[in-house]
Amino acid sequence: MTGPSGPGAVRIRTATVDDHPAIAGLQAAAFADRWSVDAVRRIAALHGAVALLAERAADAAPLGYLLGQVVTDEAEVHSLAVAEAARRQGIGRRLLAAFETMAAALGAVSVVLEVAADDPAATGLYESAGYAVIARRPGYYRIGRARPVDAEVRRRSLR
Ligand SMILES: CC(C)(COP(=O)(O)OP(=O)(O)OC[C@H]1O[C@@H](n2cnc3c(N)ncnc32)[C@H](O)[C@@H]1OP(=O)(O)O)[C@@H](O)C(=O)NCCC(=O)NCCS
Repeated sequence: MTGPSGPGAVRIRTATVDDHPAIAGLQAAAFADRWSVDAVRRIAALHGAVALLAERAADAAPLGYLLGQVVTDEAEVHSLAVAEAARRQGIGRRLLAAFETMAAALGAVSVVLEVAADDPAATGLYESAGYAVIARRPGYYRIGRARPVDAEVRRRSLR
């Protein structure tokens, strides 16, 4: 798992325990429902967990992460975020694609995820990556919101 070369090159790799503080920092900067380093550790220790980190190749600055899980033939994205200054450069798409490749290699035939219906960046990313809405959970997101926001459950087949 690498990326293009050059001064702005971004590398995608499997995260280790040492990366959990960086992942927690990226998560807390991106979501109102903030996870502690311990919470990241617990998610990364789940059965079939996959943790990916995107970092600037030049200095290993953390730019994004994906936490997911592959259980039997289904994979799930638990959390994905890219640092604000690094958005819209294809990093989110690359993290998702790397996860899909790993999930398929581990035997998954589909990927599911939940996303806030009012988030154009996230829904735009998943829509463009082929994730179709299969269910809607009314008022699912409440923390840090003026009013409850629906979750879309989205799914993409890997076959
Ligand atoms: C959602 C998020 C991960 C996208 O990461 P990113 O690296 O900026 O996304 P990419 O550059 O790979 O964009 C891929 C595609 O997603 C869509 N997209 C990304 N940002 C968008 C935006 N602000 N508005 C509309 N569409 C957007 C576009 O289709 C884009 O392709 P394009 O640039 O060729 O048009 C990032 O905005 C983020 O961290 N948001 C906060 C956390 C979050 O909402 N996570 C997802 C919920 S689990």
